[in-house]
Parts: sequence; structure tokens; C-alpha cells
Amino acid sequence: MADAAIGAVRQPHQTWSNWPTFILAVAGSAVGLGNIWKFPYITGENGGGAFVIVYLACIAIIGLPILTAEIMLGRRGRMSPVNSMIALARDANRSRYWGLLGVMMMLAAFLILSFYSVIAGWAIPYVGQALVGSFADATPDEIGGIFGGLLASPWQLLLWHTVFMALTVGVSGIGVKAGIERAVTILMPSLFIILAVLIIYNMMADASSFDKAVKFMFNPDFSKLTSEAILTAIGHAFFTLSIAGGAVFAYGSYLDSKASIGVTSVAIAGIDTLVALMAGLAIFPIVFANGLEAGSGPGLVFVTLPIAFGQMPGGQIIGTLFFVMLVFAAWTSSISMLEAIVEWLQERGLSRGKASATVAGSAWLLGLTTVLSLNLWKGFHPLGFIERFEGKTLFDLYDYLTANIMLPLGALLMAVFAGWIMTRASTEEELATSGPIYRVWYFLIRYVAPIGIGAIFIANLG
Ligand code: PFF
Repeated sequence: MADAAIGAVRQPHQTWSNWPTFILAVAGSAVGLGNIWKFPYITGENGGGAFVIVYLACIAIIGLPILTAEIMLGRRGRMSPVNSMIALARDANRSRYWGLLGVMMMLAAFLILSFYSVIAGWAIPYVGQALVGSFADATPDEIGGIFGGLLASPWQLLLWHTVFMALTVGVSGIGVKAGIERAVTILMPSLFIILAVLIIYNMMADASSFDKAVKFMFNPDFSKLTSEAILTAIGHAFFTLSIAGGAVFAYGSYLDSKASIGVTSVAIAGIDTLVALMAGLAIFPIVFANGLEAGSGPGLVFVTLPIAFGQMPGGQIIGTLFFVMLVFAAWTSSISMLEAIVEWLQERGLSRGKASATVAGSAWLLGLTTVLSLNLWKGFHPLGFIERFEGKTLFDLYDYLTANIMLPLGALLMAVFAGWIMTRASTEEELATSGPIYRVWYFLIRYVAPIGIGAIFIANLG
């Protein structure tokens, strides 16, 4: 039982080979569909510049300190989020109900994984399409038709969802060193290079559209900003940094006690933000050059980029590589979503392979409801009687519930725990500093993060 595990000396189950690999693994978790698929389309839906600025501010003053806190809690707890939270609460003489925070984080990751796998699955057939040249000289309408055809077919979606989940469980089941580490060291740097190639292509192909895209992304028009957009921005800041899904927590629990958590967090937030902005610069110039709609929603990446691939020299190869990278980026994230629950099941005596298969199998099953939301159940809006959820399918609701409610709430509670429940001495010890940077962190985590998240929640109740 949990208590037995807590009574023992807290030893990590396993450790990373070295600190840089840990950074890559967390960056692998952070960089994913959130950066390349979600960030551009929600930026488009929320009007561009002002949204981007709020998002960047949320990353810097709320996301980054909480990312630091989550890694710290994981490393100090040395167990799965539930058992770590129980142990840390006990250390501070507080209620074991703090364990529920761990449960919520694991649940959030589970829910996210269920639909994440379906979306990542979209990218797999695109690899083949790009490779055989289906996008060559195709009109935007034809390319839109390819995407529409995919979403309309439950069987195709089911197939790719299944393939993606199998890939995820394949790596996760092998374990941290052989599976996760090996995957991220190759995949992450390649992704970066492909995005850079796309941006350079955009700059050279159509400088004025590139200019428009830069203005769209960075010239704020605050009149377009609603309180819901701010909630979306903060929710996305957590989603993109993998905060409060227990992934970073679990990875932190395997981290060597000498590694600097502060430096790690800054590096990860930096890489993650850079990739999101790069994805925007890869996508929006094409949107503007082809008269497409920036606010067209989740299909944005799957409709815009193929247009560019169809026109650019070498587009067949670059397009193929891009979708391979998209699958890889999503893959290193989905693996991390399993980790917290897998760690917990291992603590309860399950083998690693069995634990991974159980979690992935259940998430796969739940994912079927997302598959159907895209076609046969498209008109099924379970909470349609509430104004805010009008027109939202089950998939939309999972996305809303996790990104806009569970992750911010988990983040808020982690900030309260790190800032108010743990003693200052223990956070200083774990972060190995008490200097000015520590004091800034402490201030942000105690006041700015809880008040900021709380205020945004309250503003959205109305
Ligand atoms: N950060 C991932 C992305 O941007 O795609 C998504 C994610 C991973 C969210 C792990 C939550 C999580 F626990």
C-alpha cells in the first residue's frame, strides 16, 4: 500500500543517465502537438498578437515558476504524484488529502492522452500522402478535402489512433533509459531543424506574407482580448509546458539530486516557447499567402502546411519529414503522459510493461469517443444547454476540461503547496539556493501564481 512505500527511505525507482538527457526528456514532453498544432490554431482563433503576449507573460511569470515547483515536488517526493504528495504533506504535518492533487494530475494526463492520440494519429497518414506527392500543386480546396475525408472516416481515425497508441506503449513499456531517452535524443533536434527550414522557405518564397504573419503574431490589438481568451492563454501555457499532468512530476522523481532544477526549468520553457513561435512562423505566412482563414480551428496545420509543401521545391521530402517530426514530437509527449500512472502502478507491484499496457489500453478505449466526436457524434453536444459549452462535442469538452480547468487548478494547488505548505527551508534545500533568484521564485509561487490563476478563474465564472 501507499503507506508502506512512504514509510521506506525514499529512493527513486530509476534514474536518468545524466542531466542533459533529463532536460531533453522534459523538453520532449513539453514540445508536442501543443506547440505545433494547438498554439497556431488558438492564436488564430483569438486574434493573434495580444493573445501571444498574454501567453508569453503566462509562461514567464506563472508557467515557469510552477514548472520549477512541479519538478521540485517530484524530486523531493521520489514517487508517483499521489504517493509523493501524501509523503510531502506528511513531512509538513498536513492532511494526506493532498494526495488527491496527485490523483487529479494523473487523471488529467489520462484524459489528455485519450484525445491526443487521435490527433497525433491524423499526422501519420499525412506522412504517406506527403511522400507520394499527393499535395503537389493541389489547390487549398483539394487539400481541405483530404483533411475533411480523414475526419469523416471513423475507421481511418480508429486505425491511426491505434497505431499511435501502440507506438506510445512500445517506448513506455521498455522503460526510461532504453525507451524514452533514446527516442528523445534523436527526435528533438531533428524537429528543430525542420521548422527552421520551413521558416526560411517562407521568408524567401513570399516576404510580404511573412511580414504580415510577423505583424499578426506580434502586433497586439488588446481590444480583441476577452477574459475567455486569457483563460485559454493560461491554460495553454500549462498544457504546452506539460504542467499539472504529472508527467514532469514523474520525470522529476527520477532526477539526480545534484541537478539544478532552476536551470532545467528555464531551458525547458525556453525551448518550448521557441518551438511554438517557430511553428507560428512556419504556418501563418502560408495562411496569409493563400488567403486562408487564420481562425479556422484544429485543422489549421493539416490544411495550411500541405499547401506549401505542394508548391515548394523539394516539398515532397520536406513535407514528409515535417509530418514524421510532428508524429515524433507528439510521441515524446504522449509517452510522458503515461509515466505518472505507470509509476504509480509500479509502486503497487505491477510490472512496467503491464502498467504501460493497462493505462494505454484504457486511454485508447476512451479515445474512441473522440474518434466518434469528429464524425458520427459531431452533433452530440452533451453540455449544450450551458451557454459556454454550446456546440461543443465530447472531444471539445475533454480539451476544455483539461486545459481550462484541471491543469490550471492543479497548477494553482501546486503553487499553494510549494509556497505555503512546504517549509521555506525544504524548498531552499531542494532548489539548492536561497539567493535573489530563489526569492523571485518564492514571491511568484506564493503570490503571483495563485492570485493570477485565481483571478482568471473568477473572471471566467460570469
Ligand atoms: N506539453 C504537451 C504538448 O504541448 O503537446 C502536452 C502535454 C504533455 C500535456 C504532458 C500534459 C502532460 F502531462
